[in-house]
Amino acid sequence: METEAADQRAEPADDVTLDDVVSLCKRRGFIFQSSEIYGGLGSTYDYGHYGVLLKNNVKDEWWRAMIGERDDIVALDSAILQHPRTWEASGHLEGFTDPLIDCRACKMRFRADKLEDSSCGRKPSKRPGDTEACDLTDARQFNLMFETHMGAVRDDASAVYLRPETAQGIFVNFKNVLQFARRKPPFGIAQVGKSFRNEITPQNFIFRTREFEQMEMEFFVAPDEAERWFDYWLGERRRWYDELGIRPDHLRLRAHPTDELSHYSTATSDIEYLFPIGWSELEGIANRGDFDLRQHSEFSGEKLEYFDQQSGERYVPHVIEPAAGADRATLAFLVDAYDAEEVEGRQRTVLRLHPRLAPVKVAVLPLVSKEGMPERARALYEQLRRRLRAEYDEGGSIGKRYRRQDEIGTPWGVTVDGQTADDDTVTLRDRDSLEQVRVPIDGLADELVARLEAPWRSPKLEAG
Ligand code: GAP
Repeated sequence: METEAADQRAEPADDVTLDDVVSLCKRRGFIFQSSEIYGGLGSTYDYGHYGVLLKNNVKDEWWRAMIGERDDIVALDSAILQHPRTWEASGHLEGFTDPLIDCRACKMRFRADKLEDSSCGRKPSKRPGDTEACDLTDARQFNLMFETHMGAVRDDASAVYLRPETAQGIFVNFKNVLQFARRKPPFGIAQVGKSFRNEITPQNFIFRTREFEQMEMEFFVAPDEAERWFDYWLGERRRWYDELGIRPDHLRLRAHPTDELSHYSTATSDIEYLFPIGWSELEGIANRGDFDLRQHSEFSGEKLEYFDQQSGERYVPHVIEPAAGADRATLAFLVDAYDAEEVEGRQRTVLRLHPRLAPVKVAVLPLVSKEGMPERARALYEQLRRRLRAEYDEGGSIGKRYRRQDEIGTPWGVTVDGQTADDDTVTLRDRDSLEQVRVPIDGLADELVARLEAPWRSPKLEAG
């Protein structure tokens, strides 16, 4: 389980700041502060049109890697509310806590282990008359689970929790999957969904929030094969980020030292990304051993094990868990893609996203709004959108429309001009090289679909 102490391992990031990304997200409608018209709700965010498309693409790529390209993993969508005993068995009720300190003067709350980083923590003593100083309580353990109540009666017996991780929904369904999907180890169960943590100091835009989406997979293996599968999943998950174009020098693996391991883990490594706040966890890969299945077996009274009727072999599988955050991955892809440059004396901001992650793949633009160009462009747009996400835009100068598409990361722009009526050709503009080539409309959709599947490298690597 992630700890905030792991955030921000200081090291200079490159020149993209979090503010650059936050303001682009707002300007282009990717991500907004939640409940903005009421002044906002702390560290909760709403995704607008392009943000939804981008995050969906991140999740789609994860599903593609988990079940589209292999046949040993099945999908699951478990409920957010689970039986409260789940959280006793998992250890969350007792141990999913952070040390919390309150300030009686300013009424703010801090993590005791992060006090140095907070403005309040710099003035711990309260001198008479010093209204600036803080007056800190002793540290106490604060459970990060959100508690709510089920049904009309609000008492201890009705208490339930919003899940703090998607993983436990997988473990409590182990028996169902074993029976109904007829699986035997090695096999995995994958789930994407919301998790909730009442973080004391949520921060850094969508990096750490109280409501977020996880992409988790539990891979069940024979006990003596756990180490081998742990190494395998480290490699696979690193490859996923590499193939989606994250710059290799902005990614690294970090093995947890023993004193940092969660109670359930015998080995954990993080894939870290060099965010503008420094090296920070993007995804954790843990060897959870047989901790979870044994705990749920004990608390539920159900046998959670693998039994081979033919060979008589019986064991409690061990679990390898790659656990990623969809929002945090989205932030990493945004940061890695953000670029600003000067083109012909003008500033251009561009999101150099992998084409498969880009919210819109192709923009269809009439050069001007006359001479039949809008009609021809609209017809081409309707043809292309059957095969890939497309956008039609006829408002404003062509230069402004290109800039808008650059800012939302659209890899290709197709412009219908006067020549189109004569020979059924259009110009195809590349977001990164800015090259424009004349191509026939016939075969254009096939060409773009093929480009989407081609290997891709961040153009920022060429430039840097
Ligand atoms: N089942 C193991 C588990 O939940 P974790 O390291 O606590 O492990 C996995 O969470 C991933 O979920 C993290 O690597 C991160 O990407 C994401 N995550 C965790 N807490 C988050 C938060 N408060 N806000 C956004 N993403 C978070």
